[in-house]
Amino acid sequence: MKKIKVAIIGVGSIAQAHISAYLSDERCELYAFCDIDENRLKSVGEKFGVTHLYTDKDEMLKNCPEIDVVSVCTWNNSHAECSIAALNAGKNVLCEKPMAMNAQEAQAMKKAAEQNGKLLMIGFVRRYGNDAKVIKDFIDNGNFGDIYYTKATYLRRAGAPKGWFCDSELSGGGPLIDLGVHVIDLARYLSGGPKPVSVYAATFNKLGNREHLKFNTRWGIDSEKSVFDVEDLATALIRFDNGMVMALEASFSLNIKEDVGTVQLFGDKAGAIIGSDIEMFTEENGYLTNTSLKCTTDSSFLNSGMFFGEIHHFLDCVCDNVECISPAEEGVLLMKILDAAYESARTGHEVEIK
Ligand SMILES: NC(=O)c1ccc[n+]([C@@H]2O[C@H](COP(=O)([O-])OP(=O)(O)OC[C@H]3O[C@@H](n4cnc5c(N)ncnc54)[C@H](O)[C@@H]3O)[C@@H](O)[C@H]2O)c1
Repeated sequence: MKKIKVAIIGVGSIAQAHISAYLSDERCELYAFCDIDENRLKSVGEKFGVTHLYTDKDEMLKNCPEIDVVSVCTWNNSHAECSIAALNAGKNVLCEKPMAMNAQEAQAMKKAAEQNGKLLMIGFVRRYGNDAKVIKDFIDNGNFGDIYYTKATYLRRAGAPKGWFCDSELSGGGPLIDLGVHVIDLARYLSGGPKPVSVYAATFNKLGNREHLKFNTRWGIDSEKSVFDVEDLATALIRFDNGMVMALEASFSLNIKEDVGTVQLFGDKAGAIIGSDIEMFTEENGYLTNTSLKCTTDSSFLNSGMFFGEIHHFLDCVCDNVECISPAEEGVLLMKILDAAYESARTGHEVEIK
């Protein structure tokens, strides 16, 4: 059987997760890498025995027409440019989150996918974790009833990454666009994918990157210029067309006891908190009951599977025409929420989403 030829644009940190997952799937082979950082490109190429190496995506796409699929793992500011170039070259594309810098770019990407008849999947990796699959099984079975309120929380006490993440020209924003994306998307996906109608938000930049801390735990690849011109905390109330409301909090720096990453669902039959494990809350036989999900005897089960699930699903879509569960239109909706949140934070008013 002919193997799917995989190219990756941007072979930094998150590309390593894509690479591991591609390597675990016999349907494909790693074929070409592209990165503007020549040293990184060479070393990642050597490590994985990939010899088609390019510092320019257009050269790669021109010289290697045999490429079938492309993972876009670059900084946020080039997701649109790289994805559109790959789609126009006739490739199926998996683009990392956030889809783009804003909804306008995201819409152009979706249009390129449609015009070329190719798949543009967005890397909403939390949809592919075992925890999401398990809780979705309960939701689809009707255990939660009508989910009318959700909380999407991703708070770091001192966790501003180094490098491009805090440089708005490269990232498009701070914890809202970086971390908020994960939990907003998961909460919206689990609650049945309602359409956003308005956002009221506030952002702050009070603590910055906390670089002065004596035990500094900042991670990421250092960039030449050290910029912090993004928010360090974002909070928002998002309204949806089915009446559901989502409360969001996302921070790089905040005076809290410890980091928190959770999605909470509140339905009229049950509620749940999805964090390092899953707990569900309901009434049974006239009593309030809490259920802690175990699923398997492997204690890491609920927290694993994300990138493998994402890449295998991408290949299922490409090879077997399986319907994609995180297509471009889902990315566009998310970018509309983020645009509205940043506008609301700037103006102090609730912003409608059209
Ligand atoms: N899904 C997740 O959980 C998750 C986690 C971390 C990062 N990400 C996303 O992945 C993307 C990359 O983040 P990262 O942490 O790997 O960053 P990184 O800096 O470690 O890697 C990005 C790489 O892209 C290269 N690059 C930048 N612009 C390029 C271009 N135009 N053409 C070719 N190469 C280019 C850089 O040189 C770098 O090597 C971001 O969009 C980020 O939001 C997702």
